[in-house]
Amino acid sequence: MSDLIKDLDILPKKEEKDISCEARISQDNAKDGQRKLYIESYGCQMNFSDSEIVASVMEENNFGTTSNVEEADLIFLNTCSIRDKAEQTVRKRLQHYNNVKKNKPGLLIGVLGCMAERLKTKLLEEEKIVDIVAGPDAYRDLPKLVAEVDEGGKGVNVFLSREETYADISPVRLNSNGITAFISIMRGCDNMCSFCVVPFTRGRERSRDPKSVVAEAQELFDQGYREVTLLGQNVDSYKWSDDENNKARLEKKEKAEDMEITNFANLLEMVAKVSPELRVRFSTSHPKDITDEVLHTMAKYENICNYIHLPVQSGNSRVLDIMNRTYDREWYLNRVEAIRRILGEECGISSDMITGFCTETEEEHQDTLSLMDIVKYDLSYMFYYSERPGTLAEKKFEDDIPLDVKKRRLAEIIEKQGVHSLERYKMCVGNTYKVLIEGYSKRSKEHLQGRTSSNKVVVFPKKDFKLGEYAEVKIHDCTAATLIGESI
Ligand code: SAH
Ligand code: SF4
Ligand code: F3S
Repeated sequence: MSDLIKDLDILPKKEEKDISCEARISQDNAKDGQRKLYIESYGCQMNFSDSEIVASVMEENNFGTTSNVEEADLIFLNTCSIRDKAEQTVRKRLQHYNNVKKNKPGLLIGVLGCMAERLKTKLLEEEKIVDIVAGPDAYRDLPKLVAEVDEGGKGVNVFLSREETYADISPVRLNSNGITAFISIMRGCDNMCSFCVVPFTRGRERSRDPKSVVAEAQELFDQGYREVTLLGQNVDSYKWSDDENNKARLEKKEKAEDMEITNFANLLEMVAKVSPELRVRFSTSHPKDITDEVLHTMAKYENICNYIHLPVQSGNSRVLDIMNRTYDREWYLNRVEAIRRILGEECGISSDMITGFCTETEEEHQDTLSLMDIVKYDLSYMFYYSERPGTLAEKKFEDDIPLDVKKRRLAEIIEKQGVHSLERYKMCVGNTYKVLIEGYSKRSKEHLQGRTSSNKVVVFPKKDFKLGEYAEVKIHDCTAATLIGESI
């Protein structure tokens, strides 16, 4: 191992990586005379993106954001319900803010996002400190909810909409380095994966007007951004029509073949055409819906990144069936084969996986391991099953796999993923890649950090490069999470 690797301390951690527990904290935007808002976000990229919409709505109403919680007049926690652990994290934060509020009685606390939607007014009963509860479709209403609290009441809106996409709201970029940004292209989810709480917390699936998506991408590019990630729970089911009649038919889930519509492949192409210098990424793809048309569009445009997040959840067809994923092992492997055929061996593929789902046998768990051996993911987000109230699985099946078994199976897939990640990264050594420079390496200002098209992190000496530029980097070493190279 080179000294640089040791020096950078970028080896992946062995423990479970729970993306839902990561907190992102807001930036300083407040002007004089504005009340100050501090936003803490948990969960998926969609939630981080929503916090930017929230900041924008609040800014219009004389609230600026602050990164210093001590000067906040209002604290928003944008929450996640995906696993029990995610909710427990937020409960602990509320306890913490309870103590803060003792010394600052005027401080207002709002719970937003998926946990707000799931628990509704129960949150007000259970967590006395909470003043505002707002679900994911209620963010335009936040200033009114704050006003209700100012007048001595509580503010609650957990109404789920069939239309809201916040298309006209220009997000305040809180989570940004000025180079990469998220664009929400749809909201909600109509898939009913039996383990998943999202359809209940985010409501029905709806797509956003492609014109507003392209306009946002263009605006970001003009401001100097060089990468956008199009976000949706299932981007492959993106559909839009300006025609009222077609809209009604799409609502009824009629087949779209004979209609003039914009599908996800069309949208990808429209965004890619904003500029060849603007990289386009997207997340999440659903194995049942990802089409060859999307893969061919990716192949056609160099600036559409060669990377697909394609969560498998399990490698066993019976488990996939009771998870209600609506594909089986063969279908999934066929999609991976199409990716390799159309986009090549180098295309990055990542996954989400759940161990110890209801009734999963040891043999079925082995099928997940063997599927991993076939696909060889670059990266996976791996979890053990956490039963969620109100989901189909909670109603239909017993959560019967003991915690120690779930955890042992999880450890096995994490270990395998580590081997595959290293293998996939080693494949890159000796090659040269175009890297978008996103920042400095964590350890040294003398090294820059960026990513390849296939989403692999690259660290290399700075020389004369600036952030936001592209560099051709020759890779000479790697870990299972970082490529190390030299610009040429
Ligand atoms: N829309 C995305 C996933 C969103 S949730 C998709 O369809 O793939 C992110 C991940 O959390 C899921 O892919 C799944 O692996 C995991 N997850 C969801 N519900 C879970 C539960 N009840 N227990 C454990 N992991 C869960
Ligand atoms: Fe949840 Fe399935 Fe929808 Fe993803 S596709 S958000 S896992 S219900
Ligand atoms: Fe969590 Fe809601 Fe996202 S449950 S993962 S924040 S959609």
